[in-house]
Amino acid sequence: MKIRDFKLEVFFNKYEFTAPYLLSQSDCESMSIKELLGYEKGADKQFLEGWLGYTEVPGHPELRKVISGLYTTMKQKNIIVHAGAQEPIFNFMNVLLDKGDHVISQFPIYQSLFEVANAIGCKVSRWNIEQSESGWRVDINKLEQLVQPNTKLIVLNSPNNPTGHTLKKEEIEAITEIAKRHDIYVFCDEVYKSLELDGVKRPWFADRYEKGVSLGVMSKAYGLAGLRIGWLATRDMDLIEELIKMKHYTSICSSGPAEFLSIVALRHGDKILDRNVKIIEDNLKNAESFFNRYPDLFEFNKPMAGPVAFIRMNITTQIEEFCDILVKEKGVLLLPANIYLFPGQYFRMGFGRKNFAECLAKFEEYLIEKKYV
Ligand SMILES: Cc1ncc(COP(=O)(O)O)c(C=O)c1O
Repeated sequence: MKIRDFKLEVFFNKYEFTAPYLLSQSDCESMSIKELLGYEKGADKQFLEGWLGYTEVPGHPELRKVISGLYTTMKQKNIIVHAGAQEPIFNFMNVLLDKGDHVISQFPIYQSLFEVANAIGCKVSRWNIEQSESGWRVDINKLEQLVQPNTKLIVLNSPNNPTGHTLKKEEIEAITEIAKRHDIYVFCDEVYKSLELDGVKRPWFADRYEKGVSLGVMSKAYGLAGLRIGWLATRDMDLIEELIKMKHYTSICSSGPAEFLSIVALRHGDKILDRNVKIIEDNLKNAESFFNRYPDLFEFNKPMAGPVAFIRMNITTQIEEFCDILVKEKGVLLLPANIYLFPGQYFRMGFGRKNFAECLAKFEEYLIEKKYV
């Protein structure tokens, strides 16, 4: 398979481990293994006694059971564990899609969610998340207008990276109705689920529709990216069987220590999520007062959910050039819109890290030094 470069990963590979002020990260604050094991009495001993052999291909039964508990209608058999969220995106697209299929993808979106389909030879149409006076929005009518006789899949990412937009319950219902009417699969990347900032929980697509597939991961809302544990949830058991066979060609099975730590994390998931939502909320207060100081320079789209926002900057310099000079001269990393193939002067900012205030202060210092403000 020939596939185009993953722009975001190429960009991060250049700066993520060298730039001192990461102001664009899409995951929440992580923690040490020791801190995680501290959530459960006796877990440290169990972890050290853990066996390092091969594990079950669909995932540890207890892990699948704990994951299924996040949903309302999923059982253990409906869950297949993978390496992070990237492997299941790749495997799912390869299992479901054929050359010539039509796919509708939300846009902007994490690149692999449409790029793998492109590489398979599908035609991909974009369903745009649109900028409005009050932030980002979607137009459900436009989604249905994009449907073609050979549309096999609708790809969504809600809550969305990079916009911070999240579908409302009625929009989820409306999309499900469209998909049912045209017999189309819905793949929803829900890796930021449970970070809704309005406190309103939305349904998971896997619970709403027999051809709905939900993607989850430990990396983002839980802040445990190093575990490399993600999963797919679906009622479609034929699809699960195909995904198992596909996994034989990729990771085969997941890391035993990571599965154990994921079980511990998910058993105490609510506490970890509360901690992470609190970090985001505190950082957002700081960010709002920053953006209020500079209303002419920025258009702040406050996120509806998740740890990222896509913010418009009123400057004449191209945004990618601005971000490039910013990281080289000041060590502050922001993600420009061109990385998402998105036109316009936007950058992604991340609110999930504890050192956000320090990074934001460096950014402000730079704006003052360079007389942007
Ligand atoms: C929306 C979205 N989906 C999937 C992924 C991939 O996640 P992972 O690193 O756990 O494979 C990311 C990572 O940034 C993401 O933002």
